[in-house]
Amino acid sequence: MAKTVDQLTVKGKRVLMRVDFNVPQDDSGAITDDRRIRMALPSIRNVLERGGRAILMSHLGRPSGDPADAKTYSLAPVAKRLGELLGQAVTLAPGCTGPAVRKAVDALKDGKAILLENLRLAGSEVESKKKDKKTGEVKLVKKWTSFEEQGAADMAKGIAELGELYVNDAFGTCHRDHVSMVGVPALLGADKCAAGFLVRKEVEYLQEKLAKPAKPFVMIMGGAKVSDKIGVIENLLDKVDVLLIGGAMSYTFMKAAGVPTGNSLVETDKLDLANHIREKAKTAGVRLELPVDFVVGDDLKNPTATSVAVGRIPDGKEGFDIGPATAKKYAEVLKSAKTIVWNGPVGVFETPAYREGTRVVAEAVAAATDAGAVSVIGGGDSASAMEVVGVDQRLSHISTGGGASLELLEGKQFNSLKVLG
Ligand code: 3PG
Repeated sequence: MAKTVDQLTVKGKRVLMRVDFNVPQDDSGAITDDRRIRMALPSIRNVLERGGRAILMSHLGRPSGDPADAKTYSLAPVAKRLGELLGQAVTLAPGCTGPAVRKAVDALKDGKAILLENLRLAGSEVESKKKDKKTGEVKLVKKWTSFEEQGAADMAKGIAELGELYVNDAFGTCHRDHVSMVGVPALLGADKCAAGFLVRKEVEYLQEKLAKPAKPFVMIMGGAKVSDKIGVIENLLDKVDVLLIGGAMSYTFMKAAGVPTGNSLVETDKLDLANHIREKAKTAGVRLELPVDFVVGDDLKNPTATSVAVGRIPDGKEGFDIGPATAKKYAEVLKSAKTIVWNGPVGVFETPAYREGTRVVAEAVAAATDAGAVSVIGGGDSASAMEVVGVDQRLSHISTGGGASLELLEGKQFNSLKVLG
């Protein structure tokens, strides 16, 4: 892989640092989880402490292009939080390119940092978006791949001109071929570019350590959708010894096997896929375990918890967690594991009544890690689940990426990393 940030000579240099500060906020704009900011600190400090001038840049959310977005999606709260964590005020630039930004960057002193305004407010960072008519969700439908599009080319040039060196520490965005991820480093050239410490660690755990995993290798797959995890399962199946299934995707497996699931969430169009995974696991000699019991309730708003055995989920009831027998069984399997990959909580851990399955499994993963296993936890929900149940400090690696961590586990190669040399 490319060199890391500490191998760049940064003293007196303007260092463009792409970070992923796409953090969750509440309705008032307050940051509710600053983990992504904290995880980028080692690279930022490395540059500042060696007398570099850090020009930080990130996206935040998916602005739609409406002028009102400028306030909603401003990185101002992030600049403030970053300043508190760094112990020095961080200026927010009035955009990401143009004369006013250039002036602010030129005023930057050695060992100081500035944050460019949300890259996606500039228009060309995400050059094509489509609103799903049914859900209203804005999806990225086309990736930036070349300088052919004028807006993207201008933006890449405008940002590249601000700096002399480039660091990518934005792991959560590494699967996006955007201007700031691919275009800017391409313009500066690989000799001026490096990976940050966070990106380095993510690739080490989500890719390199899994190329020849220590055995037994246990994979835990949870979360709602079988379809989200199929790529990961297919990519790692020939290396895995045991595949433990939890979360709502269990119900799709159950239904596909003709087992009653009550009112539980089932992907009815993925029943064949679930059977296909079971067949593949069998052929590959992988032990695939499904829950033997569940914690069920009426709905999430009025949580009541009753444990029932598999096949016994009553009509009208919904499964929200794996049951105690399953949690015990999975914990037993994990005792001897030497490599563990976990993506997706095994229950609705946000609701205390349905947290116990995730807690017991998390505790078993932490204990195996204490005993020398390598444990890799996918980002998003799984990352916050580990914090909620209090084992986050005991695991080998918790990814900061959602989509990026899944794509790396699927075996994909990222252009944003290739371009670093
Ligand atoms: C994420 O949260 O997964 C990253 O910040 C990427 O965001 P995006 O899916 O909006 O590109």
